[in-house]
Amino acid sequence: RTVAVVLAGGTGTRLGLGIPKQLLKIAGKPIIEHTLAVFEGAPEIDEIIVLMATGHLNEAQQIVSKAGFRKVTKVIEGGDTRNATTRVALDAVGDEDCNILFHDAVRPLLSGRIVRECVNALWTYSAVDVAIASADTIIQVDENECITDIPVRATLRRGQTPQAFRSGTIREAYRRAEGDPNFAATDDCGVVLRYLPGTPIKVIDGSDENIKVTHPVDVHLADKLFQLAAAQVPRLTDHRAYSEEVTGRTIVVFGG
Ligand code: CTP
Repeated sequence: RTVAVVLAGGTGTRLGLGIPKQLLKIAGKPIIEHTLAVFEGAPEIDEIIVLMATGHLNEAQQIVSKAGFRKVTKVIEGGDTRNATTRVALDAVGDEDCNILFHDAVRPLLSGRIVRECVNALWTYSAVDVAIASADTIIQVDENECITDIPVRATLRRGQTPQAFRSGTIREAYRRAEGDPNFAATDDCGVVLRYLPGTPIKVIDGSDENIKVTHPVDVHLADKLFQLAAAQVPRLTDHRAYSEEVTGRTIVVFGG
């Protein structure tokens, strides 16, 4: 059994809308509805559990019933932090051995390809992350905003979600983390890396389109990407596509 956990326990302070950003409508639907639709339509997923921000359970339940998502078995309240929300989800999944995918509700442009590759990788690995290369050089700074290190870009990736686990692995990592008063993490692979050292965590290719709606500009980007998807415009990310700058115009040629 493979369970998709949709993490929607946050309130979106950086977007600053006054409603949790997962409820914001993009391309005619709340962000979380787009996200749930991907898992509902993914043959690898048997069950979906939604962890929603306090005070917004009704909205989430209404979205689920209106859209008729049949794989959603639970809509429950998340925790105070993202990791606390993961803990609540682990309790909700129960003790049975299964695969669990944790996904940010605010990454509505997730593809079926990424879901499939995560689940397939769980045949070999007990922990799987999704990431993309960084186009920008990543620098490390100190408290005075002065550079302390510039790690080699080729070895760096930008982490996305889903993060996928065999249930025993993620449960054990969180069980050990519970005893640590200095516990701090912003994702779930970080918990496995720290508390179950030595566990190989496979990284599969994410996508530039799998953005996390975080800042106002992301709303515009996501909106545009949904428009392109609806119009079935081939993407420049298609390896057959290339573009040429000619007298200030971009000519895009799709071969193949
Ligand atoms: N999340 C969660 N429970 C929390 C905090 C975050 O389930 N207590 C979820 C968010 O709903 C989101 C994902 O984790 O889908 C990624 O987090 P982030 O983008 O940081 O969302 P917010 O916490 O809502 O945003 P902000 O940090 O701007 O407040």
